[in-house]
Amino acid sequence: MPNTTPAISPQTLSDLKKAFEASPKGFVITDWGAPRFAVVDFATFEKLRTQKKTVAPIRTILVTGGAGYIGSHAVKVLRQSGYEVVVYDNLSTGRREAVGDAKLIVGDLSDRELLAKVFAEEKIDAVMHFAASIEAEESVFKPVEYFQNNVINGLYLLDAMVAAGVARLVFSSSAAVYGDPAKFPIAEDSTCEPANPYGESKLVFEKILKWYSKAYGLHSISLRYFNAAGADAASGLGYRREKMSHLIPRVLDVAAGNEKEIEVYGQDYATPDGTCIRDYIHVLDLAEAHVAALEKLAASNGAYVYNVGTGRGYSVLEVVDAIMEVTGHMIPIKVSERRAGDPAKLVADSTKIQREFGWRPRHDLQSIIETSWQWHRKV
Ligand SMILES: NC(=O)c1ccc[n+]([C@@H]2O[C@H](COP(=O)([O-])OP(=O)(O)OC[C@H]3O[C@@H](n4cnc5c(N)ncnc54)[C@H](O)[C@@H]3O)[C@@H](O)[C@H]2O)c1
Repeated sequence: MPNTTPAISPQTLSDLKKAFEASPKGFVITDWGAPRFAVVDFATFEKLRTQKKTVAPIRTILVTGGAGYIGSHAVKVLRQSGYEVVVYDNLSTGRREAVGDAKLIVGDLSDRELLAKVFAEEKIDAVMHFAASIEAEESVFKPVEYFQNNVINGLYLLDAMVAAGVARLVFSSSAAVYGDPAKFPIAEDSTCEPANPYGESKLVFEKILKWYSKAYGLHSISLRYFNAAGADAASGLGYRREKMSHLIPRVLDVAAGNEKEIEVYGQDYATPDGTCIRDYIHVLDLAEAHVAALEKLAASNGAYVYNVGTGRGYSVLEVVDAIMEVTGHMIPIKVSERRAGDPAKLVADSTKIQREFGWRPRHDLQSIIETSWQWHRKV
């Protein structure tokens, strides 16, 4: 509104009509002299409404857990896409080498002083939050560790962001939020009843994000990944742990002769061959979904949730068969007790992310196994 706009105190509709007659382009309504709001003609209102919002560009991303399995692939894809990256990781399961020559700050999420210092010193525009405790079975026996790291430490991160005015976050959520669903494939609006504290901690954090968006304007996208698998061996990236919990690397360990058999946890599930069914998504496809989420988030306010999977499920025995095919090695299996907190079947409906981001998974199970096998023989 121009400064010459008259300020009036209208009481009734006829006052408004008179005000428009005196000032057809609009006027400011005051309350005891203090401007309260502006009334404009419809054409001006439409012009303002349809005006393109100017969006501050996102350049530098703080990647918590960027030395970990999925985070390190995301760091690589982010840098390839032209973003600057600062990794924040306590290296509890992450590897320093996986960060390459990106900036690495070794620190724990519980260190609030260090977090504040990082936000004060680095020009962070957005955060990708991968750092977490991730073993679903372990969480059943150690819930305190999971709520501490995945919820309380996560809150420290959010509060540091709010204090620094950083308003965009992509969060690593999980299919574990759904628990043991009855309807397949699983869409984002399915009932969430986590079967373990790990899944509960992710669901709690998603809910926290919804309220932070409303209260503090900290906007987020939670990506509910299904089973991350595969590797980028040529870049020196892949999954490696002392005690491996992921199925594909464990079976590859048998193929490589490091273990003599693969333990199959339960063959009495309500699935065609009795073993658990999972939706395996290549870690590079996941990383690309993060970049797409970041681009979406640059222009949207709110707290959103998307599944990231392929929509195709494979049972444990099908995965073992596919690995025998790719590697040419026999894989002996030993069926044992079910693991605690393991749902029978998790397969994503990922039409929402495909429709809204234009993202598609580019790798199938064969490619997941081949790239994992390349990595496995390297380390
Ligand atoms: N791997 C999967 O299949 C899968 C599926 C769904 C969701 N997720 C989620 O994706 C994220 C990444 O998982 P991942 O498989 O790469 O695990 P990961 O263990 O390889 O990565 C986690 C990283 O976070 C770091 N970290 C953990 N706690 C920290 C803390 N308090 N402070 C600083 N750094 C800390 C670790 O050192 C590690 O580098 C996690 O949030 C996990 O819950 C993973």
